[in-house]
Amino acid sequence: MTSFIPNDKISEIKNSADLVDVVSEVVLLKKTGKNYLGLCPFHSEKTPSFTVSPEKQIFYCFGCGAGGTVFSFLMKQEGISFPDAARSLARKYGIEIPITHLSSEQKRLITERENLLSVNKEAMTFFCQTLLKSSEGKSAKAYLLSRRLTEKTIDDFHIGYAPLGWEHLVNHFSKKKIPASLVEKTGLILLKRSRGGYYDRFRNRVVFPIFNLNQQVIGFGGRVLDDALPKYLNSPETPVFNKSRSLYGLNRAKKRCRESDTVFIVEGYFDLLALHQHGIENTVATLGTGLTKEHIRLLKGFVSKFYLVYDSDDSGIKAAQRVIEIFRAEEVDARIVVLPAGHDPDSYLFNSGSEAFMDVVSKALGIIPFLIESAVKKHGLSVEGKIRIISDLKGPLALINDRIARSLYIQKISERIGVDEAAVLEKVRETSSRKTTISNQIYRFDKTGGKKKAPKEMGSKLERKIIEMMLQFPDAIPEVTRRNLLKHFEDEMLKSIGEMIVGYSGPFNQFVSDTITSIDNEEKKRTINSLAIGGDLWEKEGCNKLMNQFESIKHRRENTLLLKIKAAEMRDDKEELLALLKEKQNQARKSG
Ligand code: UTP
Ligand code: MN
Repeated sequence: MTSFIPNDKISEIKNSADLVDVVSEVVLLKKTGKNYLGLCPFHSEKTPSFTVSPEKQIFYCFGCGAGGTVFSFLMKQEGISFPDAARSLARKYGIEIPITHLSSEQKRLITERENLLSVNKEAMTFFCQTLLKSSEGKSAKAYLLSRRLTEKTIDDFHIGYAPLGWEHLVNHFSKKKIPASLVEKTGLILLKRSRGGYYDRFRNRVVFPIFNLNQQVIGFGGRVLDDALPKYLNSPETPVFNKSRSLYGLNRAKKRCRESDTVFIVEGYFDLLALHQHGIENTVATLGTGLTKEHIRLLKGFVSKFYLVYDSDDSGIKAAQRVIEIFRAEEVDARIVVLPAGHDPDSYLFNSGSEAFMDVVSKALGIIPFLIESAVKKHGLSVEGKIRIISDLKGPLALINDRIARSLYIQKISERIGVDEAAVLEKVRETSSRKTTISNQIYRFDKTGGKKKAPKEMGSKLERKIIEMMLQFPDAIPEVTRRNLLKHFEDEMLKSIGEMIVGYSGPFNQFVSDTITSIDNEEKKRTINSLAIGGDLWEKEGCNKLMNQFESIKHRRENTLLLKIKAAEMRDDKEELLALLKEKQNQARKSG
């Protein structure tokens, strides 16, 4: 995919982009020494371990091991591809990307994306104009006002109207000389099955444009003005619209999300609009799909506290059961808000106001406690009821891959309903033994338990320290070469990193970002990344001490070997002697 953008443009983007600048849009950074420190946007933490080096233009999180360059930051943060990250940076820094020397297929793909976005934008303008300026738009406007939306909300969210009839949008684009075959790819118009020609997808509906984080229109949702069916219609999935990665309103919510560290997730367009209009702007809506892992990862870049808002116990329970393991694996705090019977967020806010809403929110329970209380409410605490409660909960509990978390929840349930823990556990085991064990493995990497641990330390401490020194204090590199230290490294990976450093010919402050962009070995990448960014202050004397220490340990190792050899000779232990001599030979080869 990198070939979409010429390499010299990638370098230009890399040289212009400032990682601190880009990260600061999402993370509050504080200067500490030569680095910046903040709360990691990729996992939830209370004490900052997310480090950005302005000098090396790399970031690294000592909590979760996420690291990389400005490109990887954007890719991870916004869930986008490399070319998209590059393009978004190019836009931000005013760099024009020529598309002339691309293959015709590459050109077609790029232009297609951009074309789809501009068709969507044009359609949005058409829908807005129709709502505000045409006579057909009057009833739609009246409908929106009857739903108690203000002019400002309608305007802020660019809500429009797709008029009654089959070919308004078809004609609009044809007048603008935009090929129907292109417009069709946005899903806004469809090919007639019988007679050829096209017809509009959205007819006589109020239309909500859906934006990505770059404020581009990626799709639409449309609602009928009466009781016709289907009530809502959405754009289909297209090269620019992926429902499981997109959230309605995130473009407007992200600022408040970041400030409040909290997001409300609702299910409907009008629910979202009602919350925003009531000043609760840290709200997003799913687009007729359930909440996905991608949604949560995306939001994790902005918040660590999630409130899922539902209009009934049943829909809350269903959703909670479905997302329980996603939330646990992502280690974010999720609570379930269920509004009083008969209300959705839209009706509740307009009926009772934002204070009442926030009051309900304040009583929201975490996912498991919510499921426990719902089951208790539903079945009661009779013997029969308890059996049903366990049977309701065993499925969701079995989904939890972390054994400790699971056993804590089981303890909670047994306390709440007064049933022996072992009995609950047995029921859950029956269920979970049917699952494959592979899922355990997949999550193991993400799992960091209560206290965050740095990723596994590789190689001897001193060898790591020397590589760290070389990365952070390049003045010491010639001395490392002179003393021939790398030769004695036991850890092959650290040794090869050292050799890469010695062999690097570019300006050294670019070594790390260059290397981690170009090598494929994840572990190596991570090691370089983490060692490069430490906060240690290096000076010449400390470096020499470190190298002396390394050498003296090397000598000690050699001396110990000699002593061992002598002892083996005296014992006349031939086997041992042979092994030791081999080792000595090895060492000699290294020092030679
Ligand atoms: P609801 O049916 O709960 O409607 O759908 P609502 O949001 O309360 O709508 P109003 O208040 O009657 O206008 C919730 C969400 O589910 C999706 C839409 O995203 C909707 O906002 N949905 C619903 C569809 O995609 N298609 C449908 O036919 C219905
Ligand atoms: Mn509603």
